[in-house]
Amino acid sequence: MGRVKLYDKTFRTFIPYEKIEKAIDGVAEKVNADFRDCTDIPILLCVLNGSIMFTAELMKRLDFNCEIVSIKLSSYSGTQSTGDVRQVMGLTADITGRRIIIVEDIVDSGNTIMELRRILAAKGAASSSICTMLLKPDACRKDLHPEYVAMEIPNDFIVGFGLDYNELGRNLKDIYILDQEE
Ligand code: IMP
Ligand code: MG
Repeated sequence: MGRVKLYDKTFRTFIPYEKIEKAIDGVAEKVNADFRDCTDIPILLCVLNGSIMFTAELMKRLDFNCEIVSIKLSSYSGTQSTGDVRQVMGLTADITGRRIIIVEDIVDSGNTIMELRRILAAKGAASSSICTMLLKPDACRKDLHPEYVAMEIPNDFIVGFGLDYNELGRNLKDIYILDQEE
């Protein structure tokens, strides 16, 4: 199993690329089943930066017409959520009256999703559903039940496949977990 060092912390392989790809196949199939026959053009909302890799992998598996819109939110510092979700960059297009599929890397405390829902409602979205690559158990405390979940993981800090530790690790192909044995 591989190890990587990012700043002061060591991480070890947790979910290999092949397993991530299979999980994305599964979740994309569920999204396709619900949207394949749509007559509107749904929007995939890529939540930067973390969702960039998952959005790319997901969209190439979707077989209905869709558009991509991005927004950049930030709430993590180091390995913890600050509890405060900042909008670093607003929505890149008008979403009035559109159906939105929020594409997230991970849903943890659920703060980001709550803030996104507030923004989307204020901007006049017709509806929104959540498609997340990863789900941590705490998410359920806020009564958030994402419609599409590729994988569930325990409450540990992870990096890779878009996810970062202070902006490092996003380029890693596999998902890594913080190594406690240091
Ligand atoms: P939430 O607002 O607590 O649900 O957290 C959502 C955001 O925090 C995600 O979109 C990620 O960008 C980031 N995040 C949550 N957990 C992790 C993690 O384990 N590693 C890296 N980033 C994370
Ligand atoms: Mg994110």
